[in-house]
Amino acid sequence: TWTMVNIVEEQVEAIRARVGDAQVLCALSGGVDSSVAAALVQRAVGDQLTCVFVDHGLLRAGEAEQVERDYVEATDVKLKVVDASAQFLRALEGVSDPETKRKIIGREFIRTFEAAAREVVAEAAHDDQPGEIEWLVQGTLYPDVVESGGGEGAANIKSHHNVGGLPDDLEFGLIEPLRTLFKDEVRAVGEQLGLPPAMVWRHPFPGPGLAIRIVGAVDGERLEILRRADAIAREEVTAAGLDRDIWQFPVVLLADVRSVGVQGDGRTYGHPVVLRPVTSEDAMTADWGRLPYDLLERISTRITNEVDEVNRVVLDITSKPPGTIEWE
Ligand code: XMP
Repeated sequence: TWTMVNIVEEQVEAIRARVGDAQVLCALSGGVDSSVAAALVQRAVGDQLTCVFVDHGLLRAGEAEQVERDYVEATDVKLKVVDASAQFLRALEGVSDPETKRKIIGREFIRTFEAAAREVVAEAAHDDQPGEIEWLVQGTLYPDVVESGGGEGAANIKSHHNVGGLPDDLEFGLIEPLRTLFKDEVRAVGEQLGLPPAMVWRHPFPGPGLAIRIVGAVDGERLEILRRADAIAREEVTAAGLDRDIWQFPVVLLADVRSVGVQGDGRTYGHPVVLRPVTSEDAMTADWGRLPYDLLERISTRITNEVDEVNRVVLDITSKPPGTIEWE
């Protein structure tokens, strides 16, 4: 629309004026906010922007490819991919406590991003590029600004429980092109910039990813089970045309619980997965999503048929409060 064209043009001008010939860095997570923010900055300063995508191995099926392939194709952004999944898995080994998982993931993320940032700086110097890296792009939205008191500058990096939270000792100025926008406006800007619809309309997804949707310790095998079950649930919701009717749809693997089932002549002893579709305005409160029974049935049948280790599918019908959206 006309307004979105204006927002894009205005921001592009403002970013150009601020950045000059300096270099800019952005951590991409695959989420809507960082994707749209980075695409705006790319539009403004092109190859002066380097995006870093830390693949922590905790994303859902297809999400890393979405960033590495589709996003790059749509934006022409200069992307540095760090496959850190082995490192994250090692650090998470044997850890079941949710807050400990979050701390470990946050710590490993910062380490990995800092190392990548140093490499980008070194490469820039080597290539004789004009400016130093002076700027960091953040996908801060208007509601984040209000929540954190509205101050501008480095102290305002959104850190709550976002994996994107960065340490203060990185000496960058912040570029926050979405600071005045609400989520629906950010999506409209994303569409305007030609980003893949699957990214623009992606449901919120927690920074620690699937690690906090495995109740129990995280390992490669459990991640694979959950990834397959989650992909089926997402496929079916999309096929039913209901993506935009729900806020989020966590699928949770109860990895430490086993339940008895029957298949053919045999008894199975597998794991349950929990479907947790919710509706919400802002994630502060939520209601359980009333998905049609025939859709739930398709999801259940497919998961138990196609994912060997899962023999039971249960539906979470708890509102928030008292339940949270995630199980951890
Ligand atoms: P809860 O589970 O507290 O979640 O109802 C509210 C919203 O926050 C997301 N969430 C997180 N996001 N890091 C994140 O970046 C986290 O550790 C985290 N924990 C929960 C959750 O997906 C929901 O959108």
